[in-house]
Amino acid sequence: MHNIKTIGIVGAGQMGGGISQVAAAAGFTTIVFDSHNESLARCKDQHAKRLAREVEKGRMQQPDVEKTLGRISYIHYLDHMKACDIVIEAIVEDARVKKDLFAKLGKQFGADSQTILASNTSSISITELAAAAGPAADRVIGMHFFYPVPVMKLVEVIRGRQTAEGTTGRVAALAAALGKTAVPANDRAGFISNRVLMPMINEAFYAWMEGVAEPAHVDEIMKLGCNFPMGPLRLADFIGLDTCAHIMEVMADGLNSDRYRPCPLLKQLVAAGRLGDKSGRGVFEYPTK
Ligand code: CAA
Repeated sequence: MHNIKTIGIVGAGQMGGGISQVAAAAGFTTIVFDSHNESLARCKDQHAKRLAREVEKGRMQQPDVEKTLGRISYIHYLDHMKACDIVIEAIVEDARVKKDLFAKLGKQFGADSQTILASNTSSISITELAAAAGPAADRVIGMHFFYPVPVMKLVEVIRGRQTAEGTTGRVAALAAALGKTAVPANDRAGFISNRVLMPMINEAFYAWMEGVAEPAHVDEIMKLGCNFPMGPLRLADFIGLDTCAHIMEVMADGLNSDRYRPCPLLKQLVAAGRLGDKSGRGVFEYPTK
């Protein structure tokens, strides 16, 4: 039993936007915080567009869309999250910035609180975020969603050293209420998803760099031969080449092995500003973006 009615999401970007849409559609009172007005406005706009698309596709009725949108509030002050039963952090993947936030949340939701503090980090140590949260450490947990959140079924649940059993149980029940499947993993850099996925993506860059095949052929081989919905290079563009390179670096440091260092070609594309879908060009070109 999760006993959760109100979900707070810190960060109104791509992941925070998706998580809040799913939370509101599942009937939770949803509060989205971002310190940037433009991000909140973009998030609100995306919610309206994505939900309108659900009606177009016959997956939702208009009155349900209105109810869903009515459950979401967009706020500029972290203090206004007091009523939340869980706060899910989905901000920039930077350990220092995340620790600052967890320190603030640990003060706000101190020892007498029941509020869970979850992080959507894809690689940063949950144990370190929990340590930053002080008195709330046993209520800190990793709740790793996948992009695009409304479509992907998994939530990878990461227990830090300090995470209480009860916190893990409540988060697993919440994931089910959100229509997701929670699968546990322990707190090692990259957890399971990125530890397995990212070296494969990185290897695709090496294969391309060494001239084993053209990028389109690398992807075609993996799509047709392994039944992947997207080839690894297309997926790298979809995730963001900067994010892929960053996750590899975090794993190389965290797992203390150079075998996780990003491929030089991947790093070079990032340096050239070719970040994938979001910049209009990565491995492939996306002229309309
Ligand atoms: N945001 C939100 N929803 C999206 C989306 C996006 N960027 N892109 C697609 N969708 C949704 C839409 O609802 C869409 O349906 P409609 O267009 O009918 O509304 C639905 O997905 C299907 O999309 P498409 O019809 O375009 O077709 P598709 O069959 O090619 O599926 C896909 C697209 C679901 C993205 C599929 O290609 C896929 O599963 N790709 C792999 C995605 C993946 O591996 N994600 C994990 C990345 S790793 C990660 O997130 C973790 C990390 O730490 C890096």
